[in-house]
Amino acid sequence: MKKPFELHAEYQPANFAFRNGTKVEKIINLYPKGRQQSAVMPLLDLAQRQVAEDGAKASPVYGGWIPRAAMDHIAELLDMPPIKVYEVASFYSMYNLAPVGKYLIQLCTTTPCWLCNADAIVKACTDHLGIGLGETTKDGKFTLMEVECLGACVNAPMIQINDDYYEDLTSESMKEILAMLADDLKPKIGSQKGRKASMALTGPTTLEKEAKKAGVV
Ligand code: FES
Repeated sequence: MKKPFELHAEYQPANFAFRNGTKVEKIINLYPKGRQQSAVMPLLDLAQRQVAEDGAKASPVYGGWIPRAAMDHIAELLDMPPIKVYEVASFYSMYNLAPVGKYLIQLCTTTPCWLCNADAIVKACTDHLGIGLGETTKDGKFTLMEVECLGACVNAPMIQINDDYYEDLTSESMKEILAMLADDLKPKIGSQKGRKASMALTGPTTLEKEAKKAGVV
């Protein structure tokens, strides 16, 4: 579960400003005159990424999240009531409204992943990092979050770390990924068993080939 949006939490900074004004303008100008409020989602994403950039240089490190001051700033830029921005930001799960670790690990435990032993992946993470679901390591590097289906069930069990998917996981490959991230190395994304997209592990197949093999054509 995610940490809830707390307007007056002590970690909320007093101010927020975008560093890249040109990018902000470019995003707003993508929308027709009078429809600038449609820029709310890409601006929330931009704010979250800016916070992540700051967090990567901080000590202890932290990941991308959207402070209330950023939402208020976006409301002002788009001439909309702050509550409307809060509503959008709190509806979508990809926006973090409270601090998270540099590596936000979203563990899918919905039925297809669960049937493929997602429990072992959760255990590998909690054992390796020494934290539970919904918690962040003391060094600010990792947050564990349980999520619903991430739409990659064909390669279950899978997880998402920041923007990337890691699929076909085992306890061993999960721990290897965590060890690499602890050293800020980049683990291979996608299937950890080497398959391409959702292709069969044995390589590409066609119905005709399979039918020939079965002797029905
Ligand atoms: S159930 Fe895990 S990705 Fe769909």
